[in-house]
Amino acid sequence: MLKGRKILLGISGSIAAYKAILLVRLIVKAGAEVKIIMTPAAKDFVSPLVLSTLSKNKVLIELADEDTWANHVMLGRWADVMVIAPASCNTLSKMASGMCDNLLQAAYLSATCPVVVSPAMDEDMWNHFTTKNNVAALEAAGHKIIGVANGELASGLFGEGRMAEPEDIILFLSEHIFRGNKLSGLKALVTAGPTREPIDPVRFIGNRSSGKMGIALARALYDEGAEVNLVTGPIEAGLIYKGITVIRVETADEMFLACTSIFPTADIGIMAAAVADYVAKSVENFKIKKTENNLHLEFVKTKDILMSMGLAKKESQFLVGFALETNNEEANALKKLHAKNADLMVLNSLQDPEAGFEKDTNKVTIFDKAGSKYSYESKSKSLVAKDIVDLIIQKITC
Ligand code: CTP
Repeated sequence: MLKGRKILLGISGSIAAYKAILLVRLIVKAGAEVKIIMTPAAKDFVSPLVLSTLSKNKVLIELADEDTWANHVMLGRWADVMVIAPASCNTLSKMASGMCDNLLQAAYLSATCPVVVSPAMDEDMWNHFTTKNNVAALEAAGHKIIGVANGELASGLFGEGRMAEPEDIILFLSEHIFRGNKLSGLKALVTAGPTREPIDPVRFIGNRSSGKMGIALARALYDEGAEVNLVTGPIEAGLIYKGITVIRVETADEMFLACTSIFPTADIGIMAAAVADYVAKSVENFKIKKTENNLHLEFVKTKDILMSMGLAKKESQFLVGFALETNNEEANALKKLHAKNADLMVLNSLQDPEAGFEKDTNKVTIFDKAGSKYSYESKSKSLVAKDIVDLIIQKITC
């Protein structure tokens, strides 16, 4: 959601200023333009040369620089958002009281765009009543404050006051400042990750799905304004918006139950989970002990979640499935599209080196019921998710 956006980044004097380097990298990588203003104190913590090189723009520090004057009014008007990260205790106080003794303050006072503040300071300063009052005043003015994190502080103490991580600041901007509205008013259900099917109290059968594709889809739907429910099997914590409702399950049966309760009121369903097709017929109460003999287990079929959503689907609902194939890819994907009554089937092939489990990239081909085929280049799972959501929007609005 940051592509093509203009971001004015204000950096004030705090140890956390080193995180601004990664923040600038991520902003540029996301396709946004960034202009940077530092307070004179910030120069002691991070090099303007590094920041100007990464941002591809001159870093501005002084109001007047020999014979040029930094046009703080135009900077404030140029930006789609002004982000102050880190915002030191001193800068927060100046912002709340309207002081104008450096270029960052002058640009802030001139900014007509939304303002996002990511504070950083020691715990005692963060808890001081004056800081609390300053934060409350900025919030009352409509600015968005990114909460501080708990952890090791520059003082060596542990507590609250760490600046949010750059990845979280990017996520915050997408979630709170640049969210689109093409799907607003619509509810979506996404499944993600593997399922884990127990055999005994210590063992399970699972698969290598990381859940990355499902998380990217949930984010892409949310980016367009949808209300999103993400039902996920066991996955590592990913970058998930706070506004997404996450329902964590373990087994195929639990995933089925969660989906059955959400799908009837959903407008869009995307089943991206790698659900177990078979589970042990009975789960042993005690650990299965090793013996001299081979072990034989009996497996029974699970319920097919996508198929049961497809059978229950109303005219107004739009359903998307995934087909992960190793051979006869297109024929298998088309078979699944029709058998499971999905509106779209997204094929990814394990033959493709850039597709599959645990990867950050994917290469997909999408089939619809009318016989159309959409082929895409290999790209990051976030961009693949955007392609899929763009196609859904195109289909449901035509
Ligand atoms: N799916 C599901 N519930 C299941 C099995 C699969 O909802 N019990 C969904 C997947 O989330 C995916 C689609 O069905 O959207 C296809 O899954 P896939 O594993 O590719 O195919 P299967 O139908 O399981 O068939 P096979 O394993 O034989 O390829």
